[in-house]
Amino acid sequence: MKSYIEENKERFLEELFELLRLPSVSADPAFKGDVLRTAELVKKSLLDAGADMAEICETPGYPIVYGEKMLDPSLPTVLVYGHYDVQPADPIELWTTDPFEPVVRKTDIHPDGAIFARGSCDDKGQMFMHVKALEVMIQNNALPCNVKFMIEGEEEVGSESLGWFVERNHEKLDCDVILISDTGIINNQNPSITVGLRGLSYVEVEVTGPNRDLHSGLYGGAVANPINILNKMIASLQDENNHITIPGFYDKVIELSDSERADMARAPFNLEEYKASLDLSDIHGEEGYTTMERNSIRPTLDVNGIWGGYTGEGAKTVIASKAFAKISMRLVPDQDPEEITNLFMEHFKSIAPASVKVKVTPRHGGHPYVAPTDTKAYQAASKAMEESFGKVPVPIRSGGSIPIVSLFEKELGVKSILMGFGLDSDAIHSPNEHYGLFNFYKGIETIPLFYKHYMND
Ligand code: BES
Ligand code: MN
Ligand code: MN
Repeated sequence: MKSYIEENKERFLEELFELLRLPSVSADPAFKGDVLRTAELVKKSLLDAGADMAEICETPGYPIVYGEKMLDPSLPTVLVYGHYDVQPADPIELWTTDPFEPVVRKTDIHPDGAIFARGSCDDKGQMFMHVKALEVMIQNNALPCNVKFMIEGEEEVGSESLGWFVERNHEKLDCDVILISDTGIINNQNPSITVGLRGLSYVEVEVTGPNRDLHSGLYGGAVANPINILNKMIASLQDENNHITIPGFYDKVIELSDSERADMARAPFNLEEYKASLDLSDIHGEEGYTTMERNSIRPTLDVNGIWGGYTGEGAKTVIASKAFAKISMRLVPDQDPEEITNLFMEHFKSIAPASVKVKVTPRHGGHPYVAPTDTKAYQAASKAMEESFGKVPVPIRSGGSIPIVSLFEKELGVKSILMGFGLDSDAIHSPNEHYGLFNFYKGIETIPLFYKHYMND
């Protein structure tokens, strides 16, 4: 199989480029046509790879691409999940090259080159590894079981239509394991498998002061400035130890045991390199926890955007009528997104002074996820990575969220294997997102090994 990959390397890359050239930004309706064209191209790629069938499944939102290669209904079935939508490329001016014209450039971390484009790592590049792995297995007579693909177009905006689709298609999606590459590894020398994802509660807040924008001299000091108030309210959500102050917020958080924390601390991590890579002179976070714990097993509250008033060129003396913020809370087991959203709403309204009005709008949410390592599927992923990297992968909990993973468990009763190949430094969601060529090809090489070990061990 390795020689087949070697012989077809260039074509695989060119095919991925085709996919990356389509700006499938799900958040912005201006890209609707491109999102739909991307779904068509994913469908075609599945058929080209050798799927028996592939189809575009309509939903109330963006379609889901479904495809399958069924060998024998009595054999186990692997369901591959991925997403063809991408984050907006903004701020575009910070990209070195066009976000939708992929190019390969070398970096310190990727001396063999990395593909620079929006979606190269999250998730087109990683999802496409599965399409090519299917081709590789079919061409080498090495596909040992049934495989289904479910590739969605709304992951970056909350996967609402996928929830709708899964609820209605239990039979179609019947499978033994779900395989996903939409996470990362520690680094290219130290493979890892993600066994935990954080949940999410995402809200938007609006603070209203006076009924119109006012002259900041004539009214300043005498009326509530919603921007000042919003900032005070947000600042009060964390105490001096960076502990979240919302009553009840931590009630359901499962604390890890000392031995679990010791296990976590064994994963390679260098704080000085971490700081240097982000140009930080010091780190920041909740008292009593390490950096790795802060970004994986502890819940957070972060402002993702804040706006209001005059932000154009020069000065305009004005007290705005309204101020806004988008706030994300990353959740850990056993926090419940709906409960946390309600706690936030109640608390945020309670801390508002009488001089302003406050509106809180829940946006989306998702449950946290943890996966056991003592399953056949985890062992198969571990063996596959051990074979391709020459090193046993370590299980890690990631700070990111893929809300649909806990929904798969609830709706289909099936656990997911999160065997991703990205690096934290690949700048997903940021300008200059990239994906290592090493990682792309390593993924295509490792995926067939997962099938092999899953079926033979
Ligand atoms: N692929 C990421 C999530 C991820 C990345 C998990 C790296 C673990 C390691 C996914 O596309 C993503 O960005 N998810 C969103 C969820 C949201 C939009 C509902 C997130 O984590 O912000
Ligand atoms: Mn993703
Ligand atoms: Mn993403």
